[in-house]
Amino acid sequence: MSTSVHETITAAPAASCDAELAEGPWVFDLVPGYGPGASEDDVIPTPVVRPGQLPVAYQQMSDDELHARIRAAKETLGDRLVILGHFYQRDEVVQYADFVGDSFQLANAALTKPDAETIVFCGVHFMAETADILARPEQHVILPNLAAGCSMADMADEDSVEAAWEELMELYADEDQSELASVIPVTYMNSSAALKAFCGRHGGIVCTSSNASTVLEWAFERGRRVLFFPDQHLGRNTGKAMGVPEELMPMVNARKPGLGQDPQTLLDAKVLLWPGFCSVHKRFTVAQVEQARADHPGVKVIVHPECPMPVVDAADASGSTDAIRRFVAASSPGDVIAIGTEVNMVNRLAAEYPDRTIFCLDPVVCPCSTMYRIHPGYLAWTLDGLVEGEVRNEIVVPDEIATDAKIALDRMLAARPKGA
Ligand code: 13P
Ligand code: SF4
Repeated sequence: MSTSVHETITAAPAASCDAELAEGPWVFDLVPGYGPGASEDDVIPTPVVRPGQLPVAYQQMSDDELHARIRAAKETLGDRLVILGHFYQRDEVVQYADFVGDSFQLANAALTKPDAETIVFCGVHFMAETADILARPEQHVILPNLAAGCSMADMADEDSVEAAWEELMELYADEDQSELASVIPVTYMNSSAALKAFCGRHGGIVCTSSNASTVLEWAFERGRRVLFFPDQHLGRNTGKAMGVPEELMPMVNARKPGLGQDPQTLLDAKVLLWPGFCSVHKRFTVAQVEQARADHPGVKVIVHPECPMPVVDAADASGSTDAIRRFVAASSPGDVIAIGTEVNMVNRLAAEYPDRTIFCLDPVVCPCSTMYRIHPGYLAWTLDGLVEGEVRNEIVVPDEIATDAKIALDRMLAARPKGA
């Protein structure tokens, strides 16, 4: 059997981007910040809420006991339970998922088991919120560790987006809106439910990395411009692939007067970008792509579109996590593939296709530190709770937010990814 990322990090903590990743994630539940693996630039949400503390008995349980409990609870709960797992989850957890997929697929998967009483989402907070909005009102959605957030999602808060929107509305007030709106708000799935609701209220839409180009086409049929948040890289990469010149994709900064741009730049803009980024994908560089090509002539390089534009340009292909999976599945024995995305997924693909050479572009082992917080201990504790009739770590999006957010999410579900 191949070695999981967790086993690698535990055996040699110094090989990872932060040696503290080898600790149990409960160590970080109550400390400010994102803990190991996060970028120093990551915005820390305020007030800092870390209510995911795991009972000590579960912190101290052996791996064997945790896995025995998870298996037993799954057996007892049967079809009353569905477990969804994102590709970036650790092997120790993803093995229990009934569906494994990218964000778009998991949003759809949340709809496919309407009879299940509970959806346990092994992913991050915005994914569980989305599942709660899309699920039937009677269904419970659980995020096993409430501290599993997404640092990028926290880089766009509702107040800043509202403030930027008001400035833009003032600037575009004289435009003829009869045929096309001045701006269509597009939020990446990696955002709070409140921002999805903002998009629902303002004629906007949600996108994922798999359907971003379909969504931008949808938006340009309805508006002159798009305000894209929080991920500047996905917005820029998607706009560029559609032929939008870089100079027409300025960054807006809600903290600066005039959004940090001169008015003419904002009037000429096609895609207004928000300055958010993913600390995992920001680590990938053009130098790593060049190194892979030098070390492995003929290597195929595929990266996630959350990577900076020069990295996407230097790669042979880019796409969502499921597009990366399909790229590998379509390759041939003997192929060499370098991947620019989260290491748990890359290592899993390498183990699944042992007749190919598959490796992560980043030589340092750096998982998504927040996805990593779904340790088997949290899964065992929440499943044991269900067996005992207690719903632990439930995610509930208030109705007034969920109603508007669902409008933007339904538009997203109708915008099918190309080539999937
Ligand atoms: P996917 O939609 O491609 O699964 O990406 C989600 C994500 O958070 C990537 O960082
Ligand atoms: Fe968020 Fe990046 Fe982790 Fe994806 S990989 S969940 S964008 S922090």
